[in-house]
Amino acid sequence: MSWPYQLFKNVAFGLDAEKAHNLSIKFLSMFPNMASEIFGRDNLEKDLLSCQVGPMKWSFPVGLAAGLDKNAEAIDFFAQTLFGAIEVGTVTPLAQEGNPKPRMFRLKDELSLLNRMGFNNHGMDEAYQNIVSSNRNSKMLGVNLGKNKVTAEEDAPNDYSKLFKKFSRIADYLVVNVSSPNTPGLRDLQNIESLKLIFEELKKCDQFGEVPLFLKISPDLSVDDLDGIVQVGSDFNLTGIIATNTTIMPEKGQGGISGVLLKEKSKMMRSELLKRSRGSDLSIIGVGGIDCFQDVWDFLIEGGDAAQIYTSFIYQGPEILKNIEKGLKQKLNQYQAKNLQEMLANRDQLK
Ligand SMILES: Cc1cc2nc3c(=O)[nH]c(=O)nc-3n(C[C@H](O)[C@H](O)[C@H](O)COP(=O)(O)O)c2cc1C
Repeated sequence: MSWPYQLFKNVAFGLDAEKAHNLSIKFLSMFPNMASEIFGRDNLEKDLLSCQVGPMKWSFPVGLAAGLDKNAEAIDFFAQTLFGAIEVGTVTPLAQEGNPKPRMFRLKDELSLLNRMGFNNHGMDEAYQNIVSSNRNSKMLGVNLGKNKVTAEEDAPNDYSKLFKKFSRIADYLVVNVSSPNTPGLRDLQNIESLKLIFEELKKCDQFGEVPLFLKISPDLSVDDLDGIVQVGSDFNLTGIIATNTTIMPEKGQGGISGVLLKEKSKMMRSELLKRSRGSDLSIIGVGGIDCFQDVWDFLIEGGDAAQIYTSFIYQGPEILKNIEKGLKQKLNQYQAKNLQEMLANRDQLK
């Protein structure tokens, strides 16, 4: 690990997890240029490691997962790192406090996190302003959308529709999030009928079909539910599916588990999803326990389109992106390929 991140981590890990998180976001948002100078900038040769995710071109096949920059405050920093895409949010229509604290915990020995944040965020108007005044440095910007806790389940489509209208003109992609375990009843919206109601409502919006749209799913669905999810995705012409959110492990405490403890479950769901979505136009973004080059590579050659990380970024810092870059460049050499897209065009022949 680079010494600047090691130092940063030593200080941050001495504090309560959420306090450290908030201070870090504040620092990164106030000094984005200095922070990216310290932690390492993206100086990737254009298009060398870019990948296609639906109609979007990501400059690098790994993006920042939702939840780290909930209010879109530190886009200028993240856009200068290697991340090919930055997903902000979850944003809800109205600001909300989230669950009582403490609600974010490090499981250090297991390189994992437990959180029960509950979509704490400053609401869609503030996130909108932050996005408009940010410098994305040509990186893809996703907005992850969630319903307010006070919104009844039957009114959820209306929340998603408000958010869709707000962000569809300024985001590069949008994500319907119905998979956080920390908002009561939210994951029930993953049943096919509820999903249809949400997407029927979104279909009425002007920009529907023009901005790439994803559905983010839970790893706790049964694999048999995936066929229905793929069907809804295809029926509504979604761009793709993001798999997965955090998992519940009651023995570790109430909330969602991310990081190494989630890896196997998430990986299994992704493999099943890739199998079941073969032949559809859906792009699959993989997230959950990805913490090294090999994880990204395995997912890409299995047919995945791009990956996202959260927890491994906390534990390893920007170094993880450097390691993935290094691994991908070695593969380009090994297969004598000009760039990642050319290499993945023959993914069946890769190992
Ligand atoms: C503290 C914390 C907060 C999160 N908040 C959100 C969120 O608001 N919306 C969301 O879709 N996912 C959220 N996630 C889930 C991540 O985006 C990701 O799906 C999950 O952590 C698995 O990836 P990882 O193992 O790389 O962390 C959160 C994760 C953590 C650890």
